[in-house]
Amino acid sequence: MHGWRREHAGDLGLVPTMGYLHDGHLALVRRAREENSLVAVSIFVNPTQFGPNEDFERYPRDEERDLALLREAGVDAVYLPSPAAMYPPGYQTYVTVEDVSQRLEGERRPGHFRGVATIVLKLFNATSPTRAYFGRKDAQQLRVLQRMVQDLDLPVEIVPCDIVREADGLAMSSRNVYLSPEQRAAAPVLYRALQQARARFDGGERDAAKLRELVRSLIALEPLAEIDYISLADDRSLEEVEGIIEGPVLLSLVVRFGQTRLLDNIELG
Ligand code: PAJ
Repeated sequence: MHGWRREHAGDLGLVPTMGYLHDGHLALVRRAREENSLVAVSIFVNPTQFGPNEDFERYPRDEERDLALLREAGVDAVYLPSPAAMYPPGYQTYVTVEDVSQRLEGERRPGHFRGVATIVLKLFNATSPTRAYFGRKDAQQLRVLQRMVQDLDLPVEIVPCDIVREADGLAMSSRNVYLSPEQRAAAPVLYRALQQARARFDGGERDAAKLRELVRSLIALEPLAEIDYISLADDRSLEEVEGIIEGPVLLSLVVRFGQTRLLDNIELG
């Protein structure tokens, strides 16, 4: 089946995922359950959002476990397209969201958000959701998709959902399984650093460079952590803030533990 649009009456909440589900995904499902009469989850490890040297082949997959979790969560439909159904031979159409895609992750992962925007639009077309649920964990992805929906007049409401964390503060991610026990033990340093920056911000600090430097110095104390970037940017455009912080900002960072890149962020102001 290639979607079920026009076959459903009433509200439909869609939760797009790449599977290997954790409590972060399930929180999106619960929220969708509360706000819609029908809930659909898509599971598709989307090849076009992975770079040539990234982890597409080894991305963790466990379809049976995912389906059991979704059944338990009371989901009405699971959409599991095959790569050949999504991208048949001759496929050549992509969605490019410009400026907001180019910074941060976009700069390090060329083509990533083009793949994300394209697949999410295809998932919207296949399911005609009333609302679609996305995590603040992937803050730039959320902003890229909000921009796409606004610019292309898509008849869907994007619902941002809070980050779900492990007890020690590590943001849940399907990729956390790549961490060795030592790396896993060190990984909460990201959230600790962000929280200290929040405390400093709440105490009145508005100098963007000082807050970035505070985060940098705290991460640097962890020998297994290698900083990819630390950004303090305008909350909507994601343009880096220089000088004094005036409006709401997104403080985000990527830290590598071996080959594994961990993302985290908090919103300030
Ligand atoms: P995936 O990484 O599987 O994430 C699916 C959704 O779950 C995203 O909206 C993501 O932000 C959210 N999510 C992941 N970890 C979370 C956490 N700890 N707390 C809250 N939400 C969390 O993001 C993708 O898949 C793909 O790019 C996709 C949008 C499905 C397009 O292929």
